[in-house]
Amino acid sequence: MSAKLEFIDLKTQYAALKDRIAQRMQAVLDHGQYIMGPEVKELEDQLAARTGARHCITVASGTEALLIALMALDLKPGDEVITTPFTFAATAEMIVLLGGKPVFVDIEADTCNIDARGIEDAITPRSKAIMPVSLYGQVADMDEINALAARHGLAVIEDAAQSFGAVYKGRRSCALSTFGATSFFPSKPLGCYGDGGALFTDDDRLAQAAREIRVHGQSARYTHTRLGVGGRMDTLQCAVVLGKLERFDWELQRRAEIGARYESLLSDVRGVGRVAVRADRNSVWAQYTVLVDRRARVQELLKEAGIPTAVHYPKPLDQQPAYARFAAASGCPRSTHNAERVLSLPMSADLTEADQDRVIAALAQAVSASA
Ligand SMILES: Cc1ncc(COP(=O)(O)O)c(C=O)c1O
Repeated sequence: MSAKLEFIDLKTQYAALKDRIAQRMQAVLDHGQYIMGPEVKELEDQLAARTGARHCITVASGTEALLIALMALDLKPGDEVITTPFTFAATAEMIVLLGGKPVFVDIEADTCNIDARGIEDAITPRSKAIMPVSLYGQVADMDEINALAARHGLAVIEDAAQSFGAVYKGRRSCALSTFGATSFFPSKPLGCYGDGGALFTDDDRLAQAAREIRVHGQSARYTHTRLGVGGRMDTLQCAVVLGKLERFDWELQRRAEIGARYESLLSDVRGVGRVAVRADRNSVWAQYTVLVDRRARVQELLKEAGIPTAVHYPKPLDQQPAYARFAAASGCPRSTHNAERVLSLPMSADLTEADQDRVIAALAQAVSASA
């Protein structure tokens, strides 16, 4: 049996960027401003410019970005936030942590993103915001969602944890709505070497609120104007992201090529469904995810062939014990259906064509052997 592949190959990336990242980190160790050092603002300026958002506020993680956005919007206990159940727990978790109520709207079967057509029926007088997730790296129907939100006076938070760098109708993920919230978790398209995240907004008042909430609600040193959190991103982690940005455009290009190659290789494989990408946007393929029947068996056969896979996500949040009390009476059948079938394949900017061929050959064999 040949060697096991990496699910996300951070080692090759590190080898390519080792000197750059070392220099960036050394600069922080030399100046010693570990918290809110100059790299924090440098990164925020670069990320704001890349997305086109007026403000970027780096924070401790993607989870913290969602929390701070909801706090800046003054989410109150009992307020409702419309979101998708087909996501990582953090999306709903921060709503519930603040006493809010996640209202789950089912996904589109083909993109796995929230179905914007289902949102209007979920709006009530308690609705405060809509929180679509740009799942696997593709933005949801943001124009439709923004239009609905404007009609009903709601905010929109894009959970862009998986989509930094994605393009939607010529605009960039993170800069499409009231707030965009991304994550620099190491395995994300743009990752650091620990936890990190960022918030984006065009609204000066909300940006100021987020900046204050990030540092315990301080509007000036030891003047605690509002309730906040310890939510800063370390200077060292900002330095890592700055180092990685130097190769990021190339990585986005590679991700697009590898994604397109997966698509074309898979068009010949029977029994494997693909996640649709709409023509007016792209995916940065935070995950390259397919849909298969008898997933557990397929996954086991791939493991035996040295191909690591993952499931994003095995159970929609409305079926998780911590969130089941928020489930809609009619459930979210398309989320349930896809959650039983999704399977993420190895994906990263450094995946070679030979390895990709190996993944597809093994997948084709596993699917036919499991039938
Ligand atoms: C959709 C989604 N939202 C939020 C998060 C939370 O990000 P972090 O792990 O940086 O807290 C993640 C990361 O796993 C995610 O995938």
